[in-house]
Amino acid sequence: MKSLKSIKNWTLTKSLKNNNFSFKRNYVLRFVPSLLLTNAFKSISSWKNYKPTPLLKLDKLQKNIISSATAGNHGRSVAWGAKRLGLKCKIFVSQYVSDTRVKEIKKFGAEVIRVKGDYENSLNECKKLSKKNNWKIVQDVSTKDYKLVPQLTMAGYSIMIKEISKQTNQYITHIFLQAGVGGMAAGVVTGVAKYFKRIPKIIIVEPDRADCVLQSIKHNKLKKIKIKKESIMGGMSCNEMSYIPWQILKKTSNCCVSVSDRNIAKTVAMLKDKKLSKNSIIGGECSAPGIISLVGVCNDTKIKKIIELNENSNVLVIGCEGNADVKLYKQLLSKGRK
Ligand SMILES: Cc1ncc(COP(=O)(O)O)c(C=O)c1O
Repeated sequence: MKSLKSIKNWTLTKSLKNNNFSFKRNYVLRFVPSLLLTNAFKSISSWKNYKPTPLLKLDKLQKNIISSATAGNHGRSVAWGAKRLGLKCKIFVSQYVSDTRVKEIKKFGAEVIRVKGDYENSLNECKKLSKKNNWKIVQDVSTKDYKLVPQLTMAGYSIMIKEISKQTNQYITHIFLQAGVGGMAAGVVTGVAKYFKRIPKIIIVEPDRADCVLQSIKHNKLKKIKIKKESIMGGMSCNEMSYIPWQILKKTSNCCVSVSDRNIAKTVAMLKDKKLSKNSIIGGECSAPGIISLVGVCNDTKIKKIIELNENSNVLVIGCEGNADVKLYKQLLSKGRK
């Protein structure tokens, strides 16, 4: 594999400053109340096998530009939860979800229903059949009329910030947050509002083929976009933001950036092969774009200045996926090592 010198050429596809930025803790915690966050931590940290997400230093990357890392996937976690509670579970997936991911979901005893078309089609089919059969939907996308489960999901994401605040006393100046519908990013922001003493700059990261947050911030309204071709970052390939995340991120994100699929494989391999840190880190396709964006910002004087990123910055990058799709992970590793 090429040395870290090659990252000097990594670029962002788009970057956008949020002109409506105004981070107010009370505003954020109006959408996901503080008590939900407290209860989420109490409940999840008491689960058997609970382990806090480790905060790792990407010290080798730091020398070359700068951070830190953590795993998810909604359908799989719902299937896991259903098994734990002894409940029947049906997971709707689009045609783009790989067979490997489907197998992993089935391992928890869930029935997987494949729907032709994209994520939105699978969501619509889920809503239609659930209404018809009186099934309970556990969906992480909120609308004006469907808020509680997404709020609880976001409260779950906030735990990462609680865990991080226990592992470092250093002030974090910037957080790079991957977004699909924005739930993970907004959930982390609620954690920041509750647990961090000082508010870092929030940078939202998306695939350039699915930049619905960037477009919504740009137009200052929820924008539905057309995905012409699916990104390799499958979990982030969403065409419209979730309602509550939009309310939160429209005020709390300092800037939005988008990146192509080009450097995903390389970054996955670099993480695994200790090119970025002392530790070997297993990070899948959705764990890489935060790092790529950080490098991209460092290579872009204008946006770097806008978000005040410099040698004194202490940047947090959250990698929220391990080798969830084992087959794809192996392919990326092999491609990235060439
Ligand atoms: C690994 C991973 N990262 C990021 C995201 C994006 O999260 P959200 O859709 O809540 O923005 C997802 C969504 O499924 C994911 O699976």
